[in-house]
Amino acid sequence: ASNSFLLPIVDAVPISTKHVKVTVVGIGNVGMACAQTILTQELAEEIALVDVEEKKLKGEMLDLQHAGAFVPRTKITADTDYAISAGSDICIVTAGARQREGESRLSLLERNVSIYKSIIPRLVEYSPDTILLIVSNPVDILSYLAWKISGLPPNRVIGSGTNLDSSRFRFLLAERLNVHVQNVSANIIGEHGDSSVPMWSSVTVGGIPLNNFLDKNINGFEMQSLRDIHTAVVNGAYEVIRLKGYTSWAIGYSTANLTRTLLKNQQRIHPVSVYAKGLYGIEEDVFLSLPVQLGRSGVQGMVNAPLAEEEKNQLQVSAQALWQAQQGLSL
Ligand code: NAD
Ligand code: LAC
Repeated sequence: ASNSFLLPIVDAVPISTKHVKVTVVGIGNVGMACAQTILTQELAEEIALVDVEEKKLKGEMLDLQHAGAFVPRTKITADTDYAISAGSDICIVTAGARQREGESRLSLLERNVSIYKSIIPRLVEYSPDTILLIVSNPVDILSYLAWKISGLPPNRVIGSGTNLDSSRFRFLLAERLNVHVQNVSANIIGEHGDSSVPMWSSVTVGGIPLNNFLDKNINGFEMQSLRDIHTAVVNGAYEVIRLKGYTSWAIGYSTANLTRTLLKNQQRIHPVSVYAKGLYGIEEDVFLSLPVQLGRSGVQGMVNAPLAEEEKNQLQVSAQALWQAQQGLSL
């Protein structure tokens, strides 16, 4: 008779399975929205939380563990020591300062660069095979910085970029037409934020190119009101920050959406921040969002999208804005 709860199985030979692990660095509004969305979507067997706030880490860890009866079986760990992140398949970095009301993402740069310099080396030390998924702002420049500091190949450093802006864009277009948001295929590329570029030339609704709607003069679907939709996308985060102080749910879902594609090797196309030099005439050494194919190795392909002339020009402006802002970064 054994005194343990489970009885031994005669001649059992275990099959070794991969233990899927995600680390979230920074457990503020955004980090916890990412962690809980990933938890409920059954994407990982272990979620490790890292922050500098020891007390808060323990509180968040216990609070998630207490949901154990209602969520997929997932080990939740937390520590200020990066050893807790060892062997992660994906490390999601959300640590750092966030915008106050009216403040731009780019104004966070200096504060978050020094934080990234302390975080990134420790993540790759413990998880040399990881994919880094960068979320803190300004996300494009911090993705570039994370790539430089980490020494990882560019396909394994990805910024959440305009995956979020594209969701805002699709939501507003769907509202305008009163259709399901998943019937709207529409991407925003470039900088996550102020200089982002709507890819009007490739918008489709229910598979029908947007130009067909423009030709028919459908009310509310003339070019000027469409441009207002992009303005609303750019202002969207500022509005949420003015109203509730920060944004969290949409970025949490956007990050889980990317994590699913990466971990489950989905080969789905997402607009995310990637190393862009040499693509679409971009000559600057920058990360910005482009439509790319993602899978278990990270970035697996670049979409060769036929951009309209105006879109190409706006992408250049976005690349320039990022390049200017990252001058003076000491690497
Ligand atoms: P927050 O203030 O709620 O949380 C930030 C967390 O980072 C805190 O828990 C803090 O202790 C931690 N932190 C600070 N320095 C650290 C360090 N050196 N190591 C580990 N942890 C550290 O902020 P938030 O609302 O969660 O926003 C976090 C970041 O995400 C901001 O930069 C914000 O602009 C950005 N953000 C990006 C997107 C996007 O689409 N990319 C969306 C929303 C927010
Ligand atoms: C966003 C953050 C603030 O929600 O970048 O867009």
